[in-house]
Amino acid sequence: MIEIIKVKDYKEMSLYAARLVAAQIRLVPDSVLGLPTGSTPMGMYAELVRMHEEEALDFSQVTTINLDEYCGLSGAHEQSYRYYMNNCLFDHINIDMEATFVPDGLTEDVEAYCKMYDELIDFLGGADIQVLGVGENGHIAFNEPDEHRFIANTHLAKLTDETIKVNSRFFKDESDTPRFAISMGMRGILSAKCIIMLANGERKAEAIYGMIAGEVTPRCPVSILQLHPNVKLIATADVFGKMSDFKVSKE
Ligand code: GLP
Repeated sequence: MIEIIKVKDYKEMSLYAARLVAAQIRLVPDSVLGLPTGSTPMGMYAELVRMHEEEALDFSQVTTINLDEYCGLSGAHEQSYRYYMNNCLFDHINIDMEATFVPDGLTEDVEAYCKMYDELIDFLGGADIQVLGVGENGHIAFNEPDEHRFIANTHLAKLTDETIKVNSRFFKDESDTPRFAISMGMRGILSAKCIIMLANGERKAEAIYGMIAGEVTPRCPVSILQLHPNVKLIATADVFGKMSDFKVSKE
């Protein structure tokens, strides 16, 4: 079931998502949060930091588990997802750093590491809330489009040329952009009790169309969310573009 929440702009999207996450933490202080990176959730993280500073939102018992990490980057690299998470959220709240999990991009035994990451997800019982963004080609985490299959487990993901190109905006140039990542698989993502998808801007329109109205196919990985019982899509009006025929739950 996908609940569609259409918001005015990026700010409203970020506040809406932060309020949901904050409500979860206030209700269940030892919640498990599944977290994404990218430019989309930055506003949500900033609002959570504000809520911590000004409204005593307490992260001391929260555990977080991140979706992915570039291979070959250490947590000290400015473009690593560990660096991003520390910088956008963890360094500014009272979370126990030992309870923040981001895949290790420098692991030497990727296969064993991925297995361990899935065991960790199982041990935590899946996330209470999994926040997601989506790539322009429909990828979630780094589950890239594929002709034949969805990948269930945490795995070594080969990034598509399109993703490398899109993500190269954060690196010196395209040749500097990592080619591989460790990514949570679909089983880990779908094990969350609630999924919040954030999307803003026209460039996400096609992927979101695939998510809510296309066939469920590994060619558009985000379409798998149609199988989850509790998904909230929080998206700005421009994401819907010409798709005016969708039944929006809240506007
Ligand atoms: C990366 C991440 C995804 C993210 C996507 C979209 O590829 N692996 O988790 O959703 O980028 O990023 P942005 O929010 O910057 O558009």
